[in-house]
Amino acid sequence: MNLWLVTDIHHLSPTLYEVGDKIQYMQDTAAGLEIYHSADRLEALVYAIDQAEPKPDGLIVSGDLTFNGELASIKDLAVVFKRIEDLGVPVYTMPGNHDLANGWARGFTKDDLFKTAQIMPEDFESLMADFGYKTALSKDPQSRSYTVDLDQKNRLFMVDSNIYEGQENTNPPQAGGRISETTMAWLDQELAQAQADGRHVIFVLHHNAFNHFKGFEGTFAIDNWADLEQLLDRYHMAVTFCGHIHAQNIGRRTTASGLDRYDVATGSFAVYPNSVGHIVMDDQGLTYDSQVLDVADWAQASGQTDNDLLNYPVYIEQVYQAANRVKLAESVYTDNYLSDQAPKDEIVAFIGRLNQYFFAGTVSEHKDELAADYAKYEPYLAETKAFFLTQYPQMILKEADKDNKYLQVDW
Ligand SMILES: [Fe+2]
Repeated sequence: MNLWLVTDIHHLSPTLYEVGDKIQYMQDTAAGLEIYHSADRLEALVYAIDQAEPKPDGLIVSGDLTFNGELASIKDLAVVFKRIEDLGVPVYTMPGNHDLANGWARGFTKDDLFKTAQIMPEDFESLMADFGYKTALSKDPQSRSYTVDLDQKNRLFMVDSNIYEGQENTNPPQAGGRISETTMAWLDQELAQAQADGRHVIFVLHHNAFNHFKGFEGTFAIDNWADLEQLLDRYHMAVTFCGHIHAQNIGRRTTASGLDRYDVATGSFAVYPNSVGHIVMDDQGLTYDSQVLDVADWAQASGQTDNDLLNYPVYIEQVYQAANRVKLAESVYTDNYLSDQAPKDEIVAFIGRLNQYFFAGTVSEHKDELAADYAKYEPYLAETKAFFLTQYPQMILKEADKDNKYLQVDW
């Protein structure tokens, strides 16, 4: 059985924006997330699924389907997912922290924003009924979590780790996550059932199941990750799948009871290099391999004329680096965190590259080059307290000895 997994699509319906300063500002400050060609990427995904030999047995979408929980955006996605199912590939969806009752749901005119309808938590199941919920074996009454049998051997757990309000509001979305006590009890019962039924479990949540980065906590893992760890240990689970951090990254940890656990974050579908997870399960175990969506291949096959699409790898890297420069320029040029002697442009370029490899999960492939450059700039970086110039590059360099794109585990 083979599954594809995409996450953090962050689709913004083209009906919700006009090209202008406002939407461009959103893209420039969204850490590399690309807005304008979202519908094209989805076309490229449909094409890739149709061309695949063999076709996947399912497509998992692990949350943050929409840019900021706009109803119009999820309606676009329902049309795309239906086309994927028409190819014979079932789609399994779940919400992310940006999808439900998000007070930041907005449309954009050339120079202004306007409020647009939000996706309500209770509507998500009906909007996505054909994409997981209708064929669910069991649903948690307290959240949008469910289980579904993929075949006679494998059961999928789609676990809602998001914190959201019950009605329309104007608050920003909560970045952090949590699995409530009642949902945890439901999971316990469902994991016992899966064991009794002799099923392998594919466990998916939006947030990280534990923190991947020492000394860099952020709001990545669910806040009660230790409770989840205890639960998963009881069922000898080795792997969980997630998204949320937008970077391609496989967290590794020896749990409190001494088990090896892997938490596989697939990179955001909307961010360079547009990762797609490929999961293969057989009697032996499970393999995961992160690949890159080939947008240019679709563009050429479908006769597109837009050069951004025909040369997509160049374009998406440029979008990524533009957002990077906005972020770094604040620390380096505006706040002036480096000494006058520091080669500022070179340092900006270096951290930009570091960040790019981090998001692609390829730091280990550039290990020697990065170590040599870091040694060159370290004296200047050591002088500053700015997070993006000190702790952040150090955190990324720790990824140099890890494979963040490939994993094999036995059941
Ligand atoms: Fe996201």
